[in-house]
Amino acid sequence: MTEKKTIQVSRDGSCKRKKESLWSPALATNQVEEPTPHSTTPPLSDPEEVRHIQRVILAFRRYLNVSLARIDRRRRDFLCLSDELQSWVPTYLQNLEQSKEAVRKNDKLLRHILSTVENFESFHPGEHYGGKLTDGEQVIRYTLECYESDIEKVRSILLHIMRDWSKEGALERGECYQPLIESTRKEFERFCRMSSGRVDPATFRVLVPGAGLGRLAWELAREGFQVQGNDFTYYSLFSSNYILNYIMEDTQIEGIELFPFIHQTTNVIDSADILSPVYIPDVDTRQLPSFSNFSMVAGDFVEVYGNKQQAEQWNCVVTCFFMDTAHNILDYVNVIKKILKPGGSWVNLGPLLYHYADTEDEPSIEISLQELRCVIEKFFEIEFEEMRTCTYTRNARSMLQLSYRCTYFVAHKKYTTNS
Ligand SMILES: C[S@@+](CC[C@H](N)C(=O)[O-])C[C@H]1O[C@@H](n2cnc3c(N)ncnc32)[C@H](O)[C@@H]1O
Repeated sequence: MTEKKTIQVSRDGSCKRKKESLWSPALATNQVEEPTPHSTTPPLSDPEEVRHIQRVILAFRRYLNVSLARIDRRRRDFLCLSDELQSWVPTYLQNLEQSKEAVRKNDKLLRHILSTVENFESFHPGEHYGGKLTDGEQVIRYTLECYESDIEKVRSILLHIMRDWSKEGALERGECYQPLIESTRKEFERFCRMSSGRVDPATFRVLVPGAGLGRLAWELAREGFQVQGNDFTYYSLFSSNYILNYIMEDTQIEGIELFPFIHQTTNVIDSADILSPVYIPDVDTRQLPSFSNFSMVAGDFVEVYGNKQQAEQWNCVVTCFFMDTAHNILDYVNVIKKILKPGGSWVNLGPLLYHYADTEDEPSIEISLQELRCVIEKFFEIEFEEMRTCTYTRNARSMLQLSYRCTYFVAHKKYTTNS
């Protein structure tokens, strides 16, 4: 069993949301080695960053009222129908009441998550959702806004929690995470063979960029490897911090109730499908080997790992549904090839659903898998590659089912590559 650690906030350099450098919530056992945590002092000198964090907190807090208002709108629409039409669907209003109860329970979980973001306490938005920050001599006053898109991110976090930490997510994790874990194990065996003998797995340094809710990184840490997850979204970081460090204190035997599908009101076969809870976690999150070295680092992957100190520091990089999150996927490939040791392993699974493809004012480089493969082959030997069908935050009971034909490959960094 590992010792529980509270969130450690550290700062090294300037923090901007996407170009952010280092905040290091050491989410699991040992302190983050690289980058080194320096202090727990909130970075008040970066008002933009503070405002961003406050906005995330505000979205968590507003989830309940926004969700209840939506349900009320559906209720009003229904009550506008004639008595006769209403009588045709006698369960409708009752289901809406149950939906309200479900979002209240989701809200309870979100409040748990927020309550454990201790070191971010000073960022909590005040009653007026605004505040005053001191930036050197200057005092900055501002008002916070929270948009529908922010609440949508909270709803999406509920689905991600289901994917990573519920029994209902097990099938999907089997499709996505299991092959990556098995390949990482094999890559470790290869590392042992190359080191001419059994090596302590704790010396095998594995990086998981875009770690999301942390399950894949946690599973790899459970294998005994030295693992660091990285993500740049505070929605994910706050939530994974809670699940990895605190949830076991709150959970009853059956776990914490969550209603991840409650907002999916279309393509429903039976109302019970969205009104049924899932329970988290499906595993005791404290169950890591006592020697495990597992950390999470906040920040943009390219900013955090693209510097010289990170060159050739990693034995293995594991990417899952991550490569297409880039503005420029070539930047990601470039950083991965730089940070891997010569001969090091890159294990990847995911689609190419370029996240910025439809965002007009953001750059987006959208190359095909074939083009990506040609780039990779410049710097890596591709050990194998195949296509795997995977789902992502799937509601198995919905009338709408979406799956990806993901590329799944293992590649080894060439020894001749200039880092
Ligand atoms: C599609 S999700 C996949 C999450 C997780 N790997 C999984 O399979 O469930 C992509 C994740 O990458 C993170 N992300 C996107 N761009 C990033 C960046 N530039 N640096 C670090 N994390 C990033 C997002 O916040 C998100 O958690």
